[in-house]
Order: sequence, then structure tokens, then C-alpha cells
Amino acid sequence: MKNDVDVSSHTNAVEFDDGVYWIGALDPSLRTFDIILTTANGTTYNSFLIRGSEGVAIVDTVKENFSDEFFARLESVADYSEIKVIILNHLEPDHTGALPELMRRAPQAKLYISQRATSMLKALLKPAGGQFEYTTVKTDDSVSLGDRTLRFLHTPFLHWPDTQCTYLEELGVLFSGDIFGCHYCDKRLYNDRVGDFRFSFDYYYAHIMRPFKKHVMDALKLIEPLTLKKIAPTHGPILRERPRRYVTHYRELSTSSLSGEVGVTDKSLIVFYMSSYGNTAKMAEEISEGASIVDGVRVSLYDLEGGETDPFVDLIEEADALLFGSPTINGDAVKPVWDLLSSLAVVNLKTKIGGAFGSYGWSGEAVRMIEDRMRGLKMKIPHEGIRVKLIPTDEELEQCRDFGRSIAESLVGKPQKKAVIDFADLA
Ligand SMILES: Cc1cc2nc3c(=O)[nH]c(=O)nc-3n(C[C@H](O)[C@H](O)[C@H](O)COP(=O)(O)O)c2cc1C
Ligand SMILES: [Fe+2]
Ligand SMILES: [Fe+2]
Repeated sequence: MKNDVDVSSHTNAVEFDDGVYWIGALDPSLRTFDIILTTANGTTYNSFLIRGSEGVAIVDTVKENFSDEFFARLESVADYSEIKVIILNHLEPDHTGALPELMRRAPQAKLYISQRATSMLKALLKPAGGQFEYTTVKTDDSVSLGDRTLRFLHTPFLHWPDTQCTYLEELGVLFSGDIFGCHYCDKRLYNDRVGDFRFSFDYYYAHIMRPFKKHVMDALKLIEPLTLKKIAPTHGPILRERPRRYVTHYRELSTSSLSGEVGVTDKSLIVFYMSSYGNTAKMAEEISEGASIVDGVRVSLYDLEGGETDPFVDLIEEADALLFGSPTINGDAVKPVWDLLSSLAVVNLKTKIGGAFGSYGWSGEAVRMIEDRMRGLKMKIPHEGIRVKLIPTDEELEQCRDFGRSIAESLVGKPQKKAVIDFADLA
């Protein structure tokens, strides 16, 4: 079979299309990536070399301590003097570690990066010293290697501001950076040859791309119209067998199957709480009652004692407002509240409204601490939270209902007041 893989020696490039080579590195012993990801069988740093009639291009490099492997593979198919173009789809160090040395070895090569990568490139190459030139590119800009054309797609925030994709027009190969990537190390290299990597693919999406769903959708608008024969991401298998499935899957992953279940016509407001003696629970119920009065708002009430974090994170992603209730215990909010609040990094919270409430005995720090955390997560806090000393009175429960109603109203926009013309204004 053509394109059989031989990465057994660390010096072979793998030609996976006509004049297109994998010159990356295998990192089978890695178990944690970027602190937040586990990698059960390691990862790969995929780098590519494209040979055209008028020169050679390199797309992305590898993590620095894998440079030897990268350079050996590169040297097996090209001389440094042939390299005309170096494209960086993404400047994270796992793909730019070998860049300073590559630039030393191929000083004539021109660097192509996205506009947003400029300041990052400077910061990255600062320690390497010296002057360097680069060209910034945007969607539909292209660079020619004679009989090969590399066209750029601006796909920011997948998963850094700088990210872009590069499309090899004549062969229909998309060099997609981290998009469609996964941490899965298998020297058989192709999606139709490696082991079952579906878990890794979804896991990578969930932890790296999920906070940027909106940007994924924007990128898909550029990617979907392409003739896609192969997708070559920077981690994990090269997707040559039915590559479009992975594009479709990204669209599915970015569109919750039940999205709009609550939110098509209604706004979704979720109240989470925890309570030892039932005081904060009582507040939560009254707040929910108050919010439910408002037309166009669907209210859900959850006791964190009866839930697990992951499904709640999914709920939160679809919600428009989140209220957290916690008693103050030893000067703090309770752990399940912090656990949930610290699990929200995978969700875009910027457009969501937040609020806090809770019962306390003497110092009552919990509510302000939760609000501070919500602000830190860039949520809007339209109403200061409610604190109740020990058992809520009827009057305080009334305040809770008002609080719930106010939050719900700010979700749907205040009811339009009748326009009253003040004749003084016309003077
Ligand atoms: C172990 C423990 C520690 C507490 N620490 C604080 C505290 O540091 N500050 C405070 O204001 N209240 C403190 N409290 C009092 C509770 O916040 C208070 O009893 C509250 O009404 C409990 O609300 P709940 O019924 O919703 O659990 C503490 C209570 C317990 C049992
Ligand atoms: Fe990355
Ligand atoms: Fe990466």
C-alpha cells in the first residue's frame, strides 16, 4: 500500500501526499499536556514539508526538545537552502519550539503568520535575539511554490488568538493547526490505521475548543466549502479517510443537540444552592418563585448536594443567568460551589448574568466571594446579592422574591414604560 508509514527510525519523513511530508515527532510517554489535559498514550507534534516546483515550505515545527527528530526528518527530504517559506499556523511552544533553530538553518526562508501572531512571535523570538522578518496574512492570501499554492484561512481563537489554517489548493490538504487535533500518539499515523482515537478527539475538543464554540462555527464557514481530501492537524492522526466526518463532528460538538430546548423562546435562569440547616435552601426557593413570575424566563432549581459537576457545566453553558447560594462556613462559601465555579473554564460566560445569596451566622463572607469570582469570570452582576442572618424572616423572603424577579427582568429587558412627554424637555 502506498503511503505506508515508517516512523520506526527517527529520521524518516513520511510522504502522505504528492510531495507533502510529515516531519513531526512522536511523544509517546507524555501523560499531561498544558497542565489541564491528560494524555493516555502521549501525543504527536505534527509538522509538515511541502515541495513545490519553486521551493519548499514548512508548516509548523515541534516542541523544542523534539527538535533533533524534526530536523532529521526534514533533512531526509530537503536541504535547508531549498526552504522558501515557513508558515506558523499557531505559535504555542509545542509548535514553535524548533523555530529559532530552523530560522538559523534556513535564514532565507520567509515567515508567514496571522496578524494576531505578531506580538507573540516577537515575544517568542526575543530570547533567540536578532532581527527577523515576517509577513502577516489573512483569509484568501496565498503563497506560491510554483505548482503548489498555500492559501490561508483566518481562524482566530482556535485555541489562541493567533491561530490560522493553511490550505494546499492543488491537493486539497488542510493544515489545520490544533483544530481537528487530538493527543493521540500512534506511529501508524493515519486515521484509518491507528487505534480507536475517538475518545481523544472528543476530549481534546471538550478541553481546548469548547470555550470557543462561536469561533469554531466561524472557522467551519471557511472550512466547509473547501474540497477536503486530507486534514493534517498538529496533533494526532492525519485524517485522510473521510476527513469531512471530522468537520461535521466539529459542527455537532459546537451545537448542543438539545440547544434551544429552553432558550429558543425563553431565557434560562438556573439557581444552584447548598444548605446545611435549610436557610439558604429557603432563600433559593423564594428567589426561584420570584424569577418564575417573569414571562419569558424558565427557572431551574438545583441543590448541589444532589448533583455532579460535569452535567451542571453542560447546563450552565446553555443558561442565560446563574445564581449561586451558599451559607458561610468557616469564612468561606462551601466547596461544591467552588468546585462548580472552578469547572467553568470550558464555557464562555461573558454574556451571562450572575448573582449570589446565602444565609450566615456572623461574618457572612460567602456571597461577596462568589460575586467576586463571577466578576473574575467576566459575568455581569446586575444586582448585589442577598445575605440573610440565620433564619430568613418573611420580609427577607419577600426580598429574595424581589431579587429573583429583578434578575429575571434584567434577562428579558425591563418592561417598556409608557413614553410620557415632559413639556419642560421641549423648551
Ligand atoms: C461549621 C460551621 C462554620 C460556620 N462558619 C461561619 C462563618 O465563618 N461565618 C458565618 O457568618 N457563619 C458561619 N456559620 C453559620 C452558618 O453560615 C449559618 O448557620 C447559616 O444560617 C447556615 O445556612 P444554611 O442553613 O443554609 O446551611 C458556620 C456554621 C457552621 C455549622
Ligand atoms: Fe495549541
Ligand atoms: Fe498544540
